[in-house]
Amino acid sequence: MKLSNASTRLIDGMPRLIQAGMGIHISSARLANITSRLGALGVVSGAGLRHVVVEQVRAGATEAIAAARTFPFARYVEELLAFAPGGSKHRSAVPVDHPEPRLGALAKRLTTICAYVEVAMAKKGHRGKVGINVMWKCALSVLPTIYGSMLAGVDALVCGAGVPMELPGIVASIRAGKDLSYTPLTGTDTHTHLSIAEDDPAPVLARMEPPKLLPIVSNFAFCKRILDTWAKRYDGARPFAFVLENHAAGGHNAPPRNKVAFTETDDLDSYFDKVLGLGVPVYVAGEFPGGGSRRDYLHWLDRGAYGFQVGSRFALCSDSGMRPDLRDAVIEANRRGESEVVTDLRLSPTGYPFKRVTVPGTLSDPRVYAARPRACNRMHLARSVFQEQSDGTVKEAYICPAMPEKRFLSLGGGNPADLEGRVCLCNALLSTAGFYSDVEPPIVTLGESGLQVKELLSARQVMEEILTPEYVAQAEKELTEPT
Ligand SMILES: Cc1cc2nc3c(=O)[nH]c(=O)nc-3n(C[C@H](O)[C@H](O)[C@H](O)COP(=O)(O)O)c2cc1C
Repeated sequence: MKLSNASTRLIDGMPRLIQAGMGIHISSARLANITSRLGALGVVSGAGLRHVVVEQVRAGATEAIAAARTFPFARYVEELLAFAPGGSKHRSAVPVDHPEPRLGALAKRLTTICAYVEVAMAKKGHRGKVGINVMWKCALSVLPTIYGSMLAGVDALVCGAGVPMELPGIVASIRAGKDLSYTPLTGTDTHTHLSIAEDDPAPVLARMEPPKLLPIVSNFAFCKRILDTWAKRYDGARPFAFVLENHAAGGHNAPPRNKVAFTETDDLDSYFDKVLGLGVPVYVAGEFPGGGSRRDYLHWLDRGAYGFQVGSRFALCSDSGMRPDLRDAVIEANRRGESEVVTDLRLSPTGYPFKRVTVPGTLSDPRVYAARPRACNRMHLARSVFQEQSDGTVKEAYICPAMPEKRFLSLGGGNPADLEGRVCLCNALLSTAGFYSDVEPPIVTLGESGLQVKELLSARQVMEEILTPEYVAQAEKELTEPT
């Protein structure tokens, strides 16, 4: 069975199964490497990568250090490897974004090379397709994450948590080696800039195919708006596909139309056919009565979808980056029928609904939430505010509604009503993946399909169940054997 035969004909070799980019480091390079070499689009999480990869380098991880050494521009390599054992910054905190260009430049360069390292590790040793999940609401890292992953030859940019209106322009500017500036990035309040002209990346990028663009969208209107805006602004640019994500999916969800609770008008079924009518391939996510099973897969292919994107099953597999104790606790509670997935409208600093799982000892427990002092020291979800100074000048600052109240209000622009119930997702999600876990409590997110996971499987076993063992074996052969 050839992967390219009629029953499985792929457009530009793009797989029909996407292993979703999830949380911080849940979709690790390791997970994406396995799934992409077995015939899926393996997607690494883009969120929080500066902290993840710098901490790996600090711990002396040889694979990450070796990947960093292949980055095309020496200055970035020196700056990242300064955190390695014996390096000049080995004991320094991971730099965070700062609105003052001089103070924020290092964080941006580190985000760039860290995205490069993650994608390079996911691509190592096979010819399968690798994508990166770009969280639009992590606006400060959108540009360097796309830049770094493009330098590593990423095959797809899968963009969620926001509407990526500027995406084709960003990719084109990066390929042309032009500096970028968005004030603000559409759908966010954040002003973001990236200087790349000095690197002269165009000759490096000219040797690579531009990445395919896959916005994650949850209604017809945004699909239509993306198509119209991209075509008009960016010379007829089109997404490779839409990932249509239902509100039962894990992580962030698009807000309900009535702003209170999801109803039938939010259901993917109510807009799926209309989106198909736009003539762009569609992957379905978060609408899996069978938990993301082969039955769900065949159902959606039969309905006309190009493929589907699975998250929760992969998040709970033995190859994901989730802390094993948390993963095992969820699976055990699922077996007893005791897990609950709650749509929390307050929790996320982004203001989007967020699915949390009721795991004891995590921030889903009100006592654990109350016991954590508010702190904001990672800044991945920060947004810009502008405050007039006594001398009449205007100063930009970054705020996040999960930060300490006083600081949030003193920087200007923050609404006090925004503060209540917010979880510091940067620290909580890093902790869920085992980073800073000794000082920060975790939070677990899953889609409703996650409740159906009652045994620990490997990523390969999940893929075999969805695509069949024969398909997976053939894919591995085609994607790893010398040509
Ligand atoms: C643990 C977890 C974290 C997630 N984080 C993200 C994310 O960072 N960005 C994103 O676009 N989607 C995220 N998602 C949603 C997935 O991309 C995917 O659409 C969804 O998981 C599919 O539905 P399922 O959870 O029922 O498999 C996350 C899902 C899970 C389970």
